[in-house]
Amino acid sequence: MEAGRQQNPCVRGEEGNGGPSGGRAVLVTGGAVRLGRTICESLAAEGWDVVIHYRSSVEAAREVARCVEQRGRRAWLVGGDLAEPGACERVIRKAQEASGGLAGLVNSAAVFSKESLWTLDAADCERAWRVNCLAPVLLTQAFARTTERGQVVNLLDRRITSDDPACIPYLLSKKALAAFTRSAALALAPRFRVNGVAPGPILPPPGMGPEALHDRAGNVPLGVAACTAEAVAEGVLYLLRAEAVTGQILFIDGGQHVLGNGVTAR
Ligand SMILES: NC(=O)c1ccc[n+]([C@@H]2O[C@H](COP(=O)([O-])OP(=O)(O)OC[C@H]3O[C@@H](n4cnc5c(N)ncnc54)[C@H](OP(=O)(O)O)[C@@H]3O)[C@@H](O)[C@H]2O)c1
Repeated sequence: MEAGRQQNPCVRGEEGNGGPSGGRAVLVTGGAVRLGRTICESLAAEGWDVVIHYRSSVEAAREVARCVEQRGRRAWLVGGDLAEPGACERVIRKAQEASGGLAGLVNSAAVFSKESLWTLDAADCERAWRVNCLAPVLLTQAFARTTERGQVVNLLDRRITSDDPACIPYLLSKKALAAFTRSAALALAPRFRVNGVAPGPILPPPGMGPEALHDRAGNVPLGVAACTAEAVAEGVLYLLRAEAVTGQILFIDGGQHVLGNGVTAR
């Protein structure tokens, strides 16, 4: 699936910050809404051009593109269901063609569902695996095959350091993605840096109000108010800037990961 406007000229960026020939474009998967949107807008504010990937949120993606352009940067849209065979390679190719050369990839698109051992089925596990882990793996591979130098940031979850029997398919996929983050950092050095951001309770699940987040957050040493989408985006920006850092996982969770399984409902 390919959609969206590509009204900007496909030229390479000018300042030079890690792209194959000075490109300053970063592809953000799931960039149209929620954390992905904040990451796209923060990237633009920091001077990056942005390729906004979406699956179904095309109108929201156009709105993010307008916000990026209002910040004086260029934006392109690339659509695609990352669970479909061949989609990851297509998304990277379209993003490379549109932007004239990607410098970075932020894997934010994900599916989340609360499935315990007693409620999960094979389809839940397969969906979580395909979207949350296999897609970032294949996107990273396609990116590394088509770019001389670059960087990747994977959106993980603070729960990767603990166990949560309430969402087994999701957690397995994020733990696998954390392992991939470190493996890819070694596999792709020194041409690429590969890092992860592990958010805590930032946004309630789609369709639920802020009180749902508060009720579900559990014990947050710094308080839930510290866990904002902007804080997550700042973590992504730091990792994109940090030239000596690879294989790192940065927890943006108000300290919850330190508690591990001690994160209990308040
Ligand atoms: N929100 C939090 O508090 C929190 C906490 C911990 C970790 N995280 C992680 O941070 C990242 C962003 O979180 P979020 O809550 O903003 O994400 P989200 O709302 O759960 O999902 C972001 C986007 O992923 C896209 N997506 C889902 N399935 C897809 C598929 N098959 N193919 C392509 N795109 C697909 C959807 O795009 P469309 O809308 O275009 O369909 C969706 O809007 C995720 O990786 C999440 O696991 C978030």
